Amino acid sequence: MIKKYVYGSPVKTGATVMEIAAEGGDPAVFAVERGERYSFSCALGEKDRVYGLGEQVRGINKRGWKYEGWNTDDPIITEGRTALYASHNFIVVCGARTFGVFFDCAGRVQFDIGYTRRDALSVTTEDADVYLIEGEDINAIIHEFRTLIGRSYIPPRWAFGYGQSRWGYQSEEDIMEVVEGYANSDLPLDMIYLDIDYMERFKDFTVDRTRFPDLKGLAARLKARGIRLVPIIDAAVKAEPGYSVFEEGVARGYFCKDAAGDPFIVGVWPGDSALPDVLNEDARRWFGEQYRVLLDSGIEGFWNDMNEPTIFYSRRRLEHTIDNASSWQGKSLALGDYNRLIASFTGLQNNPLDYKEFYHETEQGRIVHERVHNLYGYYMTRSAAEYFEEYAPEKRFLLFSRSSYIGMHRYGGVWTGDNASWWSHILLNLKMLPSLNMCGFLYCGADLGGFGGDTTEELLLRWLALGVFTPLMRNHATNGSRLQECYRFTDMQAFRNVLGVRYTILPYLYSEFVRCALRGEMLFRPLAFVYDDERSAHVEDQLLFGDSVMIAPVYEENAMGRYVYLPEEMKLIRMKGGSYTEEILSCGDHFIEVPVDEVVFFLRPGKVMPIAAPADCVERMDGALRWLQFIQQPTAYELCEDDGISPIRGEECLRRVVVEPQ
Ligand code: NOJ
Repeated sequence: MIKKYVYGSPVKTGATVMEIAAEGGDPAVFAVERGERYSFSCALGEKDRVYGLGEQVRGINKRGWKYEGWNTDDPIITEGRTALYASHNFIVVCGARTFGVFFDCAGRVQFDIGYTRRDALSVTTEDADVYLIEGEDINAIIHEFRTLIGRSYIPPRWAFGYGQSRWGYQSEEDIMEVVEGYANSDLPLDMIYLDIDYMERFKDFTVDRTRFPDLKGLAARLKARGIRLVPIIDAAVKAEPGYSVFEEGVARGYFCKDAAGDPFIVGVWPGDSALPDVLNEDARRWFGEQYRVLLDSGIEGFWNDMNEPTIFYSRRRLEHTIDNASSWQGKSLALGDYNRLIASFTGLQNNPLDYKEFYHETEQGRIVHERVHNLYGYYMTRSAAEYFEEYAPEKRFLLFSRSSYIGMHRYGGVWTGDNASWWSHILLNLKMLPSLNMCGFLYCGADLGGFGGDTTEELLLRWLALGVFTPLMRNHATNGSRLQECYRFTDMQAFRNVLGVRYTILPYLYSEFVRCALRGEMLFRPLAFVYDDERSAHVEDQLLFGDSVMIAPVYEENAMGRYVYLPEEMKLIRMKGGSYTEEILSCGDHFIEVPVDEVVFFLRPGKVMPIAAPADCVERMDGALRWLQFIQQPTAYELCEDDGISPIRGEECLRRVVVEPQ
């Protein structure tokens, strides 16, 4: 049951798809205070757990920390952070009283989940629609919420293959080197990502013709080998006379404007740039149409970046800061002055004051950016998705974004931004998965191997052994870091084994993904959502993956393996490429040895899992299925059988197959 409460005059965000009449009064679960902001508080029982918040730091159980819904580009992701690239303001309090609550507010939302006081939860918002969701149990509540926010995005089947990315591929030669590197090492590859270097001086929707003389030809040649090129698009458009995207946007008034009505100029990769006003319907349509130039070159997938939106500096604040710095010329600076001078430059990036200084022209009138800040990435991605549908209605495209808000899950997926080559980030990757799924984001993944810093062979292999289960499986690294393509390392057989598992389990991953999208279910669930024993409630490093499997990846350096808790008897599967061994393990704790060249997972009793033979890309998989099984009687499985490309409209693609025990 969903009840809606309205506080103030909230901006319509597009998060939900159902019309619900507002209730009078306040949600019974909260004490509500009205001041400059709205504050919602309630007591937390000793054993209450709190789930949700999608892309966030810390645990699967969010209790004990403070969090903020405020989309932020900051690549240092430590546990002290409170806000990441996305705002997913949905939580479920689980305990004596179990309820879900969604704070639909496009501005800043603060969650204190047992941080100030261990026994209290409080949330403060600006004007907001607040949805209280009650149901039989946590799964019913999440299902209800997913119905409220609408069906999750389903990418094409090839987007479930393995992809390689790096900030720094400069030319067609660089791309071909990677393609051949994978092929020569007999490693699979479905996607190769183009980062900003393919553009002409970082101008969106341009291609540098000296370094990529024939993008269309390259895309076609790679596609013939089963590999897709996936370029990046940045939010900000270079402000340069003569550049048609900029000139057209200015002429039509489609960029965000300052109080005087002029385009608000910010600095991002191309230097001075303007932000398309994606909250304005006409501007959004126009920005979406710009993708056409790449679609016409045979591109079928994109990643949208820098759309929090990132502002390295605003033109105005930068000028003021330079003037201020020049005024110190020839004078002696006391330490305090010196520190303030430095801070005036470092504080230019994503300065909250800048977000107060530009506006969107929306159907709901002119709105200052800070009130709708968290919607920017969503609407940038929506602009592309809406155009793709117009451009090729018979086809699905790959599309994912760095920044997001609930609602965007209907249009694209997410990657979780600039993580680092740290062991702790494997675990963080795992912990975000169920929280993202709760909020509708099923197509998601992290930069495998780590984006920032230098990876190691062991770290990459262990991370890939989690990545084989995540719908988006992409190895990506920053400019200047150690080269991170699998073929750069020594033990090629280990990489073949691990990447091969991805293709082996693909029929299961794809079927589970599509079913979960169609039915509003979660692909990754914490153990506590399925098992009601006390131990399961506290497991933070294992997940249910689909309906049949439990995963427990290794996330520590130099580990021989790890302890795994089995809430029931399960079948341990050790997989290398397309081959595997099976062993039945009893309920309870086990130390499982896990060599780095192996992927282990656990099949639940009464369940089956379709698998295939590995191939060098999704399109070259032969379609023949085998079944892993842990059953005593004939057991039905819903297999997704579609062409992998056409839009999936309903459940016709799911075929019920009965598997006989063997
Ligand atoms: C920031 C993104 O998070 C990262 O993935 C990308 O490589 C850089 N921008 C450069 O485009």
